[in-house]
Amino acid sequence: MKTNWFTSSGNWILDRFPLTKLWNDHMAHYYAPKNFNFWYFFGSLALLVLVNQFVTGILLTMNYKPDAKLAFDSVEYIMRDVHWGWLIRYMHSTGASAFFIVIYLHMFRGLMYGSFKQPRELVWIFGMLLFVALMAEAFMGYLLPWGQMSYWGAQVIISLFSAIPVIGDELSLWVRGDYVVSDATLNRFFAFHVISVPLVLVMLVFLHIVALHEVGSNNPDGIDIKKYKNEQGVPLDGIPFHPYYTVKDIAGVGVFLIFFATVIFYMPEMGGYFLEHANFIPADPLKTPEHIAPVWYFTPFYAILRAIPDKFAGVIGMGGAIVVLFLLPWLDRNPVRSIRYRGGIYKKALLMFAISFLVLGYLGTQPATPSATIVARIFTAIYFGFFLLMPIYTRWEKTKPVPTRTTEHHSIDEQLPALLEEITELKPATSEIDHGVFRSSFFSRRPSPTGIRHVLTRFAKKLVESLD
Ligand code: HEM
Repeated sequence: MKTNWFTSSGNWILDRFPLTKLWNDHMAHYYAPKNFNFWYFFGSLALLVLVNQFVTGILLTMNYKPDAKLAFDSVEYIMRDVHWGWLIRYMHSTGASAFFIVIYLHMFRGLMYGSFKQPRELVWIFGMLLFVALMAEAFMGYLLPWGQMSYWGAQVIISLFSAIPVIGDELSLWVRGDYVVSDATLNRFFAFHVISVPLVLVMLVFLHIVALHEVGSNNPDGIDIKKYKNEQGVPLDGIPFHPYYTVKDIAGVGVFLIFFATVIFYMPEMGGYFLEHANFIPADPLKTPEHIAPVWYFTPFYAILRAIPDKFAGVIGMGGAIVVLFLLPWLDRNPVRSIRYRGGIYKKALLMFAISFLVLGYLGTQPATPSATIVARIFTAIYFGFFLLMPIYTRWEKTKPVPTRTTEHHSIDEQLPALLEEITELKPATSEIDHGVFRSSFFSRRPSPTGIRHVLTRFAKKLVESLD
């Protein structure tokens, strides 16, 4: 082959660094199951949001001042005076909420298809460690704008540590670095938010992906594609990650960015859920806001905390709600992975769990009235029931036979063109345009009521079937 400067310097690197090997092992010759569906978009989207948070975070740091006297004003300065500062900040604040939406959907996929089960227990554990690190990152980041909710939110959560017997008071003092949340707290949270936790996140993402690529991805059928291989050792139900899934993921990124940009440009506060109204008021240690609630992604756990009457037991309950998720691979005793072939009990239990998570999330944003507390207690019991009764009900349930090869269900993106065709119809436009030389009549696509009805009926039937 003719060599030029470009190829020879490329070879120089390849002789010293396994770039081609890494690319082949993890992309071009990494065989992923061919039946990935909508739910498999969220891993790569989580990576995208992580990069967004890093880039916008670094840019914010260039103008932010981690000082209790200057922090609030420096954020206002970024919003009003720094070129594109408002965009960078909204990308970061919307990115935080987007991260949790993406991660919750990513975790739910794991629950549906049994991706936490043998041999992917470590993938799940690294994922859970990522989730905990992500919560710490978001919690500390929220203090930085030094608004009323930043201040009082941190005050409430840190003081929870003091409920721990014997060491509690000392521990919360140690975390704050002062008797109340103050400049010392802001400085250490800044250091953790900007340096330590991001490093931990990157390390954990690396371990998460390495562990996944060691055992291979699960899939919506929950079967092992490595059992059936061709003469070259390639799984019959696998396709190379690149180019097939890189292209699929880019399509997902496109759709995600439409939603992301819509929020950033048209509704960055999201009705007070992404940026809370009280946080537009500077922190005032002498004035407690009437209603203190954490950001929406913490509210399910906050509702569990408030549902339990004793403060210490509440803290244990809140921590326990996260700890049980770690134990999932050992709580589930059913060898069948995918929800497609599991019995009705797991399907209903998972549905109840999802509902309890949403209801608790809503209750956590509302004042704890006596009736709301009773509802929160019921749903806290359902939340824990899903996990703690799992060793029993997963042993009972009757399962369907699991196929040996992937079933040829077409994924939603393959079905999309036909679906669009079905729910719309081509109609001639009412007006005809006479250009003098030629006459043209226009056609336009309009929603088709009959098509929409057919599609909805089919979806409803499928939903009912999947629950039986
Ligand atoms: C920063 C956060 C995270 C990032 C960047 C991330 C990234 C990824 C990526 C790129 C994949 C492969 C693609 C896919 O299957 O969607 C994956 C798979 C997986 N992740 Fe995560 N993840 C994160 C957090 C989590 C969390 C919190 C959990 C659950 C506790 C989790 C559990 C899993 C599991 C079980 C798989 C394998 C799924 C399967 O093969 O069916 N991940 N992750």
